[in-house]
Amino acid sequence: MIRCESSYRKIIPIASGKGGVGKTVLAANLGIALGKAGFRTILVDLDLGGSNLHSVLGIKNKFPGIGNFISGKTLSFKEIILRTEYPNLFFIPGDVLVPGAADINYLQRKRILDNLLKLETDYILLDLGSGTHSSTLDFFLSSNAGILVAVPQVPSILNTYSFLKNALFRLLSRIFAKQKEISEYLKSLQKEAQPNSIPGTGKILQEIERMNPEACATAKQILQAFKPHLIVNMAKHPDDLAIVESLRNLVQKNLEIPFGCLGIVFRDDQVHESIEQMRPLLHLAPERLVSKQILRMAEKILQSKNFPDLPLDLSQYKDSFELAEIEAHYDLAETTSTENGKKQEEALTPEEFLTVLTAQQKKINELQGTIRMLTLRGRQEP
Ligand SMILES: Nc1ncnc2c1ncn2[C@@H]1O[C@H](COP(=O)(O)OP(=O)(O)O)[C@@H](O)[C@H]1O
Ligand SMILES: [Mg+2]
Repeated sequence: MIRCESSYRKIIPIASGKGGVGKTVLAANLGIALGKAGFRTILVDLDLGGSNLHSVLGIKNKFPGIGNFISGKTLSFKEIILRTEYPNLFFIPGDVLVPGAADINYLQRKRILDNLLKLETDYILLDLGSGTHSSTLDFFLSSNAGILVAVPQVPSILNTYSFLKNALFRLLSRIFAKQKEISEYLKSLQKEAQPNSIPGTGKILQEIERMNPEACATAKQILQAFKPHLIVNMAKHPDDLAIVESLRNLVQKNLEIPFGCLGIVFRDDQVHESIEQMRPLLHLAPERLVSKQILRMAEKILQSKNFPDLPLDLSQYKDSFELAEIEAHYDLAETTSTENGKKQEEALTPEEFLTVLTAQQKKINELQGTIRMLTLRGRQEP
């Protein structure tokens, strides 16, 4: 069931429909950013069967982790928590020393979650495995503040939608586990369905309303508290957010949950370099635009007293997706201006350089003005 309602200790699971979209990279760097800001943060490698968060953090795989904790009885949960070289950041390794922990059962998952909830800390980031394995869905559902990572390509967008749909189906199955008629209806849907063809939450709720309007109202309330956020990783251009619009529309139309966007991260070869060097990007290249984009997302989490409710100035932005788009335009303008700046720097006198800088700043201001105008116009149109 959704557990994360307290404003002082937040579990943030990080999931995706498909692998290789950057969950581990983002988990590590978001963890570093939250720690750097002075908040005690624990990163947990829950990609059981595919653990690699340790190497992104530059930690040798010789320490016991979740795999050892669930397969033996001798280690206490506190004994598997490692201090990292980054301020306020702690790490719980996955199962590299005890392979085969991917198929953990419900009780083992519960034991892990119960122990995580007992930890005294500000944030707990869960780096999850890819796909819709039941344990991944359960870890994702342990909080209402889940993050979904997608890349701006059609298969990734569809997989993200499918992940959310499956997670919500599991949530509904749990809510109604003890209500015979509804639970049998849900089981029948699962039996009839081809993989990935379970109906959306909206359709299911309509049917439940017919059977039991009161139960349906409770379910709607729980679903409204569930507010996953999307991170669009490896974007090349702000226009990449257009494809994300289709995901937002699908979720709004079919799933009956609030859905937000935490931000966009550009593709940058330096990320690969940081993995090669086993030094997280925020540590290796804090001035890099991608680092700043990740810091900005951490800032949004920190500024939000009740994350996943983001602090949005609604007089300026329609919603978090629109804000992400505006930020992406700013970021693109910044990369263009620094690249141009680098080339011209050598050939210019200080006075000429200043003139160029002022002109570029003017261009950025104009661009920002245009974005604001377009935003306003978009809002006025019916
Ligand atoms: N913003 C980015 N720009 C370029 N490459 C990236 C970016 N984010 C992730 N990657 C690359 O994608 C690969 C997969 O990332 P990873 O975090 O392991 O994905 P996941 O955990 O979702 O499977 C890594 O090799 C990493 O170098
Ligand atoms: Mg990973």
